Amino acid sequence: MTIHIGAAPGDIAETVLMPGDPYRAKWAAETFLDDPKLVNDVRGMLGYTGTWKGQRVTIHGSGMGMPSLSIYANELIRDYGAKTLIRIGSCGAMQEQVSLRDVIIAMTASALSTPSRGIFREIGFAPCADWSLLRAATLAAEARGATYHVGGVYSADVFYDERPDLNEIMTRHGVLGVEMEAAELYNVAARHGVRALAVLTVSDHLLREEALSSKDRETGFSEMVQIALEAAFP
Ligand code: ADE
Repeated sequence: MTIHIGAAPGDIAETVLMPGDPYRAKWAAETFLDDPKLVNDVRGMLGYTGTWKGQRVTIHGSGMGMPSLSIYANELIRDYGAKTLIRIGSCGAMQEQVSLRDVIIAMTASALSTPSRGIFREIGFAPCADWSLLRAATLAAEARGATYHVGGVYSADVFYDERPDLNEIMTRHGVLGVEMEAAELYNVAARHGVRALAVLTVSDHLLREEALSSKDRETGFSEMVQIALEAAFP
C-alpha cells in the first residue's frame, strides 16, 4: 500500500492505462478487460486490474491536472513497478484540420509549468512520448481506420483559461490539442526509465466552439482505449 493507492503488492500490472476520470477507469475495465478486479478506491480514485487478450492490464484514474497525475504515476512506477503508462483522455482541438471525435496521439507535450519545474529549473526539458508506444499506437489507429493525428499537445494548468493568447501561441506553433496531464506523465516516465504515451479523443474545439455530447464522448473513448491496448501489446 502507498499513501494514495490501497492495492496489495502484485495487484498492479506492468501496463497501466490512466484516464483522468475514475469512473472512466471503471467503465473501461468493465468494458474491455476480462475478470476486472477493483484494486484501489482510496479517495474514490478507482483502479482495476484484469486481462486483455491474456495480458495483465491495470486501468487506474489519474485525476485531473498534473499534480494529481504525478502522485499516481510516481506511486504506480516506484512502488508497484509499472513499466508502461498510457494516458487515455480527452482534449480540446487547437487546429482547423482536427475535428471532434478525432484521436490525437501525443508525440510531445508542451507546458507553461509542470510539477517537475522544481527539478528541471532553468532547463526547458522536452517531454516526449516513448517511440515504441507512439509507433504502435499509430499503426493501431491506422489499422482501425480511425481519424488520427500525431503531434504536439499542450498540457495546461487551468481549464478556465484567462489568457487566450497562450492558446493562440500554441495554435500558431502547430500544437494539435490542449489537455492537462500528458507533460508530467512524460516527465515522470523519463525520470524513471519507463514508457509513456497519451492517446486522446477530441471532445471540444477551441477554434469552432464545438463540444461532443456525453453519448458521443463514450463512443470516442472506446476507440481510444482499444488503440491504447493495441499499442501496449502490438
Ligand atoms: N480536456 C478536454 N478539453 C479540454 C480543454 N478545452 N482544455 C483543457 N483540457 C481539456
